[in-house]
Amino acid sequence: MKKTVLFCFILLISGGLCAETSKHKLPKQIDPHSFANFDEVVVTHMSLNLQANFKKSRLEGSNTLRYQVLKPTAKHLILDTRDLVIKRITYPGSKKELKAKWHLIQADNGLGAALKITLPENHPDLTIHYHSQPQASGLQWLTASQTAGNKHPFLFSQSQAIHARSWIPSQDSPSVRTTYTATITAPKALWVVMSAQNQAEKSADGVYHFNMPQAIPAYLIAIAVGDLAYKNISKHVSIYAEDAYLEKAAYEFAETENMITAAEKLYGAYRWGTYDLLILPPSFPFGGMENPRLSFITPTVIAGDRSLDSLIAHELAHSWSGNLVTNASWRDLWLNEGFTTYFEARITEAVHGTERMKMEAALNLQGLKAEMAEMDPKYQALALKENINDPDDVFSGVAYDKGRFFLEWMEVAVGRPTFDAFLNKYFDDFAFKSISTDQFLQYLDKHLIQPSQGKITMKAVKQWIYEPGLPDTLPVPTTDRFKVIDKQVADLTINDKGLKKIASDQWTTQEWLHFMKALPEQLNQKQMQALDNHFQFSQAANAEIAHVWLMMSIKNDFQPAFARLISYLNEIGRMKLIVPLYQALAESKAHQNLGKNIYQSARPGYHNLARYKIDPLFPDMKFETQDAK
Ligand code: BES
Ligand code: ZN
Repeated sequence: MKKTVLFCFILLISGGLCAETSKHKLPKQIDPHSFANFDEVVVTHMSLNLQANFKKSRLEGSNTLRYQVLKPTAKHLILDTRDLVIKRITYPGSKKELKAKWHLIQADNGLGAALKITLPENHPDLTIHYHSQPQASGLQWLTASQTAGNKHPFLFSQSQAIHARSWIPSQDSPSVRTTYTATITAPKALWVVMSAQNQAEKSADGVYHFNMPQAIPAYLIAIAVGDLAYKNISKHVSIYAEDAYLEKAAYEFAETENMITAAEKLYGAYRWGTYDLLILPPSFPFGGMENPRLSFITPTVIAGDRSLDSLIAHELAHSWSGNLVTNASWRDLWLNEGFTTYFEARITEAVHGTERMKMEAALNLQGLKAEMAEMDPKYQALALKENINDPDDVFSGVAYDKGRFFLEWMEVAVGRPTFDAFLNKYFDDFAFKSISTDQFLQYLDKHLIQPSQGKITMKAVKQWIYEPGLPDTLPVPTTDRFKVIDKQVADLTINDKGLKKIASDQWTTQEWLHFMKALPEQLNQKQMQALDNHFQFSQAANAEIAHVWLMMSIKNDFQPAFARLISYLNEIGRMKLIVPLYQALAESKAHQNLGKNIYQSARPGYHNLARYKIDPLFPDMKFETQDAK
């Protein structure tokens, strides 16, 4: 008997159906990135019961789903999965364990496999017994040596955009919201946290119970397991971090409570109870992730002077834009990220002042323009018309900064009080709902465009949303602090004597970044050396400043900085900071080999998402394990 046939037979007699794909067609999709049939049957609650098995690098257990049948003719519940091993599906509550019929239909477009379950009569829940696999795209299993403490392993999830399905069989579309509860078992030495109400103490027996009473999309379900310490820092805010980061993070993010106060004043009550921060190991692939009640934060923003805490403002702002009002599909990502980047700036302005906000805006605009200069015009629209296979592929500054400047343009046109009142109502009217760009436009027309009496028009709005590039009406951020620097750079002769005249004593991180970016792109060895002697850029503790310096060093072949380049790339895995460095190395004939060597040693410590971005830069490299994505 062929292996697959035997496999099918075993599954058949155990009550399920086989995972053979040929006979079953992929279901029609409502969301381009999900197979879930949430127009017919919708999951309303999930109850996870999982064990973190560090030896096998997998989560094992079950998910019990409660669902609601919207169309009485519906025969199946369809869920998203990716690389999950489904063992059996049963109906809880029945005296004899009843088994459901199901099959997996594998897609070849990166969306995973549809799990099609035949609906029983009169059973409102079903339990899926399953485990994840080591290559789960949404989980990173770190060994002890990849953590700061060096003693215990660490696990964290990153579910946005479509990775929840790699550890939870679920309707993995941002249009579907569920409440969840979870019981998680982990080795006793470790602490488990989730995007839910968290405990202030480690449990004695390694068992943790969670409850998320507000309905959230699957991409916001998050877990981390590690040797964590805990510190409450204010009314709403506590920090979870490895011991090595705890006190530093408590200092760095001390403004968080003020940010909550400022945000509530702007756009209404914070609706999620507490707002905690989890500091992850440095391989975390993003700056931050807005998991509800517990933002996940990279340690690379711990600069020692609170200068990079806008990241917290950003993740906090998602508690309104994103977590409360959610983009209906990943094509509408700008509704999450553009609104959040605008809101982030308003919080930063309230907490750190207008100058800091404007400096960040100017740096972001400069970055956006540079990015767009190299980008296919079809990806420069806020709302993408293109069918995108993998939402990770079109991740760029467009959704963030173009989105933000679009909102600022409207703010300037109608005046701040009117715009704030509009946003307040928007968050209220769409609270706990998902919204598409079309729905947004309808709402905008009624509540802002028409009442504005010509101050903003639908035509101008549509240009922002559907056309490439940046409209002429772009509100350009200017700040005197940068003008002073521009003047000094214009007069500068880059040598030891010239650099002594630069008055940098009081510069903040943003001024340093602007200064470095204002320098000529081509610098010779003497000039690079003079800059390094004078400002010790190769030793910069600030990860953003070090990043810009290392970019300059690769481009100008400044080898004295390469020891730092090697340690930098081996220590951190935040994609925004490392991918451009690898790109520069891969593009440089002289340093491509250095790039390969560094990548060879650093790759095992990187997240799947980072590998997925960096692997293609070195096409002739062979890797031991080809990770499933
Ligand atoms: N939600 C995003 C991260 C994300 C976006 C993950 C899309 C997967 C797909 C998060 O809020 C974010 O935007 N992080 C930024 C923060 C920065 C813009 C302040 C980051 O990680 O750099
Ligand atoms: Zn964001």
